[in-house]
Amino acid sequence: MRTDYIGKPTNRVDGRLKVTGGAKYAAEFHVPGLLYGYVVSSEIARGNIAEIDTNEALQLEGVLQVLTHENRPPSAWFDKSYQDEDSPPGSPFRPLYNSEIQFSQQPIALVVAETFEAARYGATLVKVVYEEAPHTTDLKANRAQAYTPKKYKSTPPPDSRGDVDAAFASAAVKVEQEYTHPSEHHNPMEMHASTAIWEEDGTLTVYDKTQSVKNSQNYISQIFGLSSKEALVISPFVGGAFGSGLRPQYQLFLAVMAALEMKRSVRVVLTRQQMFSFGHRPATVQHFQLGCAADGTLQAVRQEAFAETSKFEDYSENVVVWPNTLYKSENAAFDHKLISLDVYTPLDMRAPGGSTGLFALESAMDELAAAAGIDPVELRLKNYTEEDQSNNAPFSSKELRECYRQGAERFGWHKRNPEARSMKEGHQLIGWGMATGAWEAKQQQASAKALLTPDGKLTVSSATADIGTGTYTVMTQIAAEALGLPLEDVTFKLGDSALPEAPLEGGSWTVSSVGSAVKQVCDSVGEKLLKLARKVENSPFATASFEEVTFADGELRLKSDASKALAVTRILQEREVNAIEEEVTSKPASEQKNYAPYSHSAAFVEVKVDEDLGTIKVTRVVSAIAGGRIINTKTAKSQILGGVVWGIGMALEEESLMDNTFGRFMNHNLAEYHVPVNADIPDIDVIFVEEHDDIVNPLGAKGLGEIGIVGVAPAIANAVYHATGKRIRELPITLDKVM
Ligand code: MOS
Repeated sequence: MRTDYIGKPTNRVDGRLKVTGGAKYAAEFHVPGLLYGYVVSSEIARGNIAEIDTNEALQLEGVLQVLTHENRPPSAWFDKSYQDEDSPPGSPFRPLYNSEIQFSQQPIALVVAETFEAARYGATLVKVVYEEAPHTTDLKANRAQAYTPKKYKSTPPPDSRGDVDAAFASAAVKVEQEYTHPSEHHNPMEMHASTAIWEEDGTLTVYDKTQSVKNSQNYISQIFGLSSKEALVISPFVGGAFGSGLRPQYQLFLAVMAALEMKRSVRVVLTRQQMFSFGHRPATVQHFQLGCAADGTLQAVRQEAFAETSKFEDYSENVVVWPNTLYKSENAAFDHKLISLDVYTPLDMRAPGGSTGLFALESAMDELAAAAGIDPVELRLKNYTEEDQSNNAPFSSKELRECYRQGAERFGWHKRNPEARSMKEGHQLIGWGMATGAWEAKQQQASAKALLTPDGKLTVSSATADIGTGTYTVMTQIAAEALGLPLEDVTFKLGDSALPEAPLEGGSWTVSSVGSAVKQVCDSVGEKLLKLARKVENSPFATASFEEVTFADGELRLKSDASKALAVTRILQEREVNAIEEEVTSKPASEQKNYAPYSHSAAFVEVKVDEDLGTIKVTRVVSAIAGGRIINTKTAKSQILGGVVWGIGMALEEESLMDNTFGRFMNHNLAEYHVPVNADIPDIDVIFVEEHDDIVNPLGAKGLGEIGIVGVAPAIANAVYHATGKRIRELPITLDKVM
């Protein structure tokens, strides 16, 4: 038995449940007598409901109730000023609050029936008379209305320094361009769903698709005036989220409201079309100025972002912080303005702000490299920064140079002909492009509980989530290694609001935050075990301190002499202990404040563009990642693969098309909203660069949920330029733009 699990390619502990259908998702929990809710969505983008007639729907066999703003229980909106944990500044949308329509597809009624089919048919029978008001949904047409929010949800734009105008005017080489990406929608396999199980004693157990059971629980508690004992939220498995499950969504409100009102269990599942009705990656226009000396030394950086938000919340992302973390420049200026439209508030989507801000920055850097006649990797190395210029803090660690070096080597970058449109294979124009990625490596406060029983079984728990990222597995590895127990004797529990507090499962901080709590709570158990071990007869640990011992392969051992050992089970049994139970809250160390914690990446991409047809195929990707210590090389690689796939989607396919006449996203289905399929995905080569970090958290692991996508879209855009000589500054890069 070897219990040094960290750093090994461990299979998912929940893998079998997932592939055998044993893993249950929010819409799969069933009770006898369950009712089904179906959402009626607004057909207009702005205005008022003049009349809503539910009579015909109510006459349908099986339909029991139709809830609208007119008859919803007054108990809802108990607290009108609530904000969930991920709320931007403003007033969150309140479903069925009144007759006002604020965005297209706004939920305006819930039809509740004994069968899903009756509810769905009933929804078509609800008659609505609207009073339409003019709507505003066109980002570009409304740029003049851009404003600086009173408060940013994200980091405010960094302070400006130097004299950008003068430095840019006198720069030997300059680029001034605008880069645009469209709105994009989350399309996880699992649609948003909530099953609210109503008990005779009036309590609720709600199975919700969420990245935070605590956030969902707080939401329903505040809105309906329920205590945390009266409403439990459970979410053991999540079929994809990456931002869409950070905020409680309206199906949760509707399911809980109907259950409380009807004193029955109710399930509400959104349709694929309705998945386009609760937030999206906000379309952003970015204006860039980059100026450098003839040798490539950056002298001027200006980045201004114009991003969409709703009329009721000021949503913003970290779009304009990246030049400061990546490239040294004495003169820099940043701005981030919002344009409010009649849409739902935008929503975090994998690496929010990073994948989009770096698309623009890394495209502009590529343009600068081409204009200066400098290799794109060389230009980046030339301007490499050892501190985050936003606060002059050194990096907790930064092996980005190694990412460039190892990535370029694996890719064969030195064989690149710098000339655009110079590499060709029959009718295929070949392009090689690269880009840098960066993402924050934050640690948040998190709690965890551990229970060790005399049979050597350990259960560790925390109210975090596993959105497919591998949380179950890596937490099990961390706990098993900390106490030297076999993996199969360790169980990690998550996704239950009764468990110890954990932050939202997002921001790439789950391993860092919850992992640190798991390590700490297991160490507490370990210290208790040592105390007990000291009292065992002829104990080799009589005077040993915790620093002098280690747990491995089922034993407590002296570090100095591994033959001095006691089996963990023997310690518990000899001392006749029923169980050891510990709970801790792990907080970021105060010294972290003096450092800038980031993960980094370098993406190298090959594309082939058909000269006659303009079709673009990504044929090769090398992604070199510096993410600190890697807990599980297998799940880690999967994170990066998934990120690269999404990056390919972002670069070439994903786009939510707004029809401004109707104020509605028109391609709200998977036939017309394109995401990559297997045939679109080439061989993806992932390199984890060795990186040691004692600052970032006690594990030294930076988190990998988001770094994999950042840098991919610009690397593809740069490769398309190299292939075709045509610079596409507006995503997605479709064949009509290339031809
Ligand atoms: Mo992430 S966009 O914080 O799930």
